[in-house]
Amino acid sequence: MKGMTNKKRILSGVQPTGDLHIGNWLGAISNWVALQEKHETFLCVVDLHAITTEYDPKQLSKNTLSTAALYVACGIDPKICSIFVQSQISAHSELCWILNCMTPINWMERMIQFKEKSVQQGNNVSIGLFDYPILMAADILLYDADYVPVGEDQKQHLELARDIAQQRINAKFSKVENILKIPQPIIMKKGSKIMSLNDGSKKMSKSDINEGSRINLLDTPEIITKKIKRAKSDSYMGMEFNNPERPESRNLLMIYSLLSGKEVSELENELSQTGWGTFKKIFTEQLIESLQPIQERYQVLINDPYELKKILFEGKEKAEAVANKTLSRVKSELGFFEMEK
Ligand code: TYM
Repeated sequence: MKGMTNKKRILSGVQPTGDLHIGNWLGAISNWVALQEKHETFLCVVDLHAITTEYDPKQLSKNTLSTAALYVACGIDPKICSIFVQSQISAHSELCWILNCMTPINWMERMIQFKEKSVQQGNNVSIGLFDYPILMAADILLYDADYVPVGEDQKQHLELARDIAQQRINAKFSKVENILKIPQPIIMKKGSKIMSLNDGSKKMSKSDINEGSRINLLDTPEIITKKIKRAKSDSYMGMEFNNPERPESRNLLMIYSLLSGKEVSELENELSQTGWGTFKKIFTEQLIESLQPIQERYQVLINDPYELKKILFEGKEKAEAVANKTLSRVKSELGFFEMEK
């Protein structure tokens, strides 16, 4: 099933829906960076997913490039990873259709993210939003991915991809060898669920209408300072991680620990007598310092569209070869007419 290398394969992606935030970075992209050396890594910008909710056609292509530039700015090395745009490889849509026909509707009706997002959309829910997890399954299964590093919120979608591959394709159609590889999620112990700045019990999300609920990777120091100043706090003194009544304190400590590289327990000791005002200042400084190198690398790349397009072209070439091979295998095993036979 594999290409030229014996390395295990990774596939993941982010939607180009507006600015990426620190949840996307700490929950997913930083894990890709940590894994890229030891794995054969495919990273897509999932623009077909980005049109499952209302979007602006004037922004889609710009956001796609900006998302790819952020992958590199966060530390993804395009020399060892294939970075590509999902809509450029038609095998994604084609496998999605085949999987659509194999997946029972009642499996889809259980998807939590669809339920949550469709509430936000009111009367405007598209079939595409319902189908989102099957397109995601196609993304993963096309690459025979061993691992899929994602945040906690994608666990259910990963389980669906596994179930479709195992129960609906392999169990029904395989003759000798399994047709599809069963992927495993990689969800980090720390950072896999970064919470909103306005409500420590709600996930930080791109679709939250309140900009102040998240820190975007490209926020200026002034905006970061303003957002953290306004972030929800509580009336306790000192920072704590395990007090269930203090989700905001827990969330900011987690983020601070990830950014500073210090253990949560060490920070709890250090900050046990520190009030919110002082903590927010230290926290803001850390955030600005951690995002600065990403923002600098981003500026260089986004101002060099030639280089960026070259990265995406090379990524596409490598990804497409793998994707087309898997699609042919699936179509052949599922009984489609083949010209060469
Ligand atoms: P997206 O763009 O919504 O999220 C991209 C990645 O960021 C993670 N994430 C978070 N992690 C921690 N805390 C948060 N608050 C937070 N918010 C988002 C997500 O878990 C995700 O890993 N459906 C995928 C996109 C996708 C995909 C794929 C992923 C499409 N096809 C194939 C992997 C493999 C998503 O959630 O995008």
